[in-house]
Amino acid sequence: MKIKLNNGITIPQIGLGTFRAQDNDAYEAVTHALKVGYRHIDTASIYGNEAQVGKAIKDSDVPREDIFVTTKLFQTDQGYLATKKALKDSLKRLGLDYVDLYLIHWPTTYEKVADSYQALEELYLDGLTRAIGVSNFNFHHLEHLLKTAEIMPQVNQIENHIYLQNFKLHEFCRKHNIYLEAYAPLCSHEIDHLLKDETLAKIAKKHHKTIPQIALRFQLERGIIILPKSITPKRIEDNLNILDFELDDEDMEAIYKLNRGRKYFPEPDNIRF
Ligand SMILES: NC(=O)c1ccc[n+]([C@@H]2O[C@H](COP(=O)([O-])OP(=O)(O)OC[C@H]3O[C@@H](n4cnc5c(N)ncnc54)[C@H](OP(=O)(O)O)[C@@H]3O)[C@@H](O)[C@H]2O)c1
Repeated sequence: MKIKLNNGITIPQIGLGTFRAQDNDAYEAVTHALKVGYRHIDTASIYGNEAQVGKAIKDSDVPREDIFVTTKLFQTDQGYLATKKALKDSLKRLGLDYVDLYLIHWPTTYEKVADSYQALEELYLDGLTRAIGVSNFNFHHLEHLLKTAEIMPQVNQIENHIYLQNFKLHEFCRKHNIYLEAYAPLCSHEIDHLLKDETLAKIAKKHHKTIPQIALRFQLERGIIILPKSITPKRIEDNLNILDFELDDEDMEAIYKLNRGRKYFPEPDNIRF
């Protein structure tokens, strides 16, 4: 399933996450994902696995242009010149000529973000990335950015799962034609919460699917791009195998009620960079 971004390019709605996938695990996970049909891989310079991700892409039988690759600018690389260098360094590690999406990983000061974003715009116009965007941006970060941005960000990648549904930010992004990408769609290191959820267990039984598959399908129904991470072959397959069923209104209502604003990652406004 593909989504068209505001600059006309398409992105597969399901991507493989690679946070905490190190060394050979990252290589094997991306290799397996590409083999079983993933065409979208999410990495970041801070994950320390760009080289392995890039090697798996190179070694696969899938043509480069069929794979959507995202990487991210780390906070300490922000600033106009540093940003330009950071993407070039990422491309070197990935062994690629361009990425499909380059994101500002976390907001810092408004000024630094504006300078970094200007560099992103120029990198985009130079063809080093096919789309640009942000991550972990709240309303006020976006509002400030939109004052100086000449190119609308295509994406905002945020923590989003059944316990943190971000209705208002989703609505804001929709209004501005910025797609939401959900990170930690399976509650990340706290996946046990999700696996014990009785509401999800009932819905999973009804559809003959697993709990993670229900949690992921819920996001697809909301039109959100998801980035489930796994280094386990069977789970990598299961997380993609969510296109052959639909949740009905009753299922959706029950899952909407699970929202409790529960965050497993830091709140961007409470981090000192
Ligand atoms: N922009 C940001 O600041 C930011 C922050 C965090 C994450 N991200 C991106 O979003 C991606 C996803 O987030 P995440 O990695 O934190 O968490 P996640 O995808 O919500 O959860 C990953 C965890 O769930 C397990 N898992 C995956 N599929 C499963 C299944 N079907 N059944 C049971 N367990 C399963 C994985 O274990 P195994 O791997 O052992 O199978 C891993 O422990 C990241 O990998 C990264 O690409 C971005």
